[in-house]
Amino acid sequence: MRIDVTFTPGELKAYLANSDRNHRRLIVIIDVLRATTTIITALKNKAIWVLPVLAPEEAFEMKKVYGDAILAGERDGEKIDGFDLGNSPFEFTEEVVAGRGIIQSTTNGTVNIRYAMGYGEVIICSFININAVRRFCLDYNADILVACSGRYNIMCLEDAVCAGILVEGIIEQSDCYRYEMDSVIISMHLYDECRNEILGMLKKSQHGRYLTSLGYGRDLEFSAKVDSTDIVPYIADDRVVIGLQ
Ligand code: MLT
Repeated sequence: MRIDVTFTPGELKAYLANSDRNHRRLIVIIDVLRATTTIITALKNKAIWVLPVLAPEEAFEMKKVYGDAILAGERDGEKIDGFDLGNSPFEFTEEVVAGRGIIQSTTNGTVNIRYAMGYGEVIICSFININAVRRFCLDYNADILVACSGRYNIMCLEDAVCAGILVEGIIEQSDCYRYEMDSVIISMHLYDECRNEILGMLKKSQHGRYLTSLGYGRDLEFSAKVDSTDIVPYIADDRVVIGLQ
């Protein structure tokens, strides 16, 4: 079986362009700062589903269908005008999201999720659920594509490091996987460079520095809490629902 890594939604699209939609594959979406960290947190705090959309306009249209849903998301890191929540995981408390659906639009992460839908089983990964995702991948026993979201369709450090942890863990625990893409080697090397300094790496990253400049520095500390939950959200129908715990 194969394990591959893509670093941006554009690379994901190119990778899947000639793929067989019926091929049994697991696609692991990573957007550490902050979309997948936020999705995992919302579902851990008892949101009933998350619906990823491509643009704010689509979110407002879906709000007409799901009137009680929360509109959440960001552009350039800040809450979208007319939305209920931005994209800081701290906004998605149980008090706010329990029992509610969430329609989410983000700059990179929800676009990456939507590109993956229809091409396999899609699950949601970040540092906070990395070991549960590794276990899910090993149990699933199929080709794996680790799809990083990057930033404005350019590779980002934090997603690549998260991919490196996941790929290293899978390859170490199973001799059934082989890799060919340089992106797999790159992600493992990047992880090796900051093995015990995830928060320090986030603070050095471009998006981490940008979010800190906006006053979201504590989102980096939250996103760096490796293995702090066992929830593995997956796509069912057209939305993200809670997965194995
Ligand atoms: C993304 O889509 O990359 C993130 O949601 C951006 C952010 O939350 O600042």
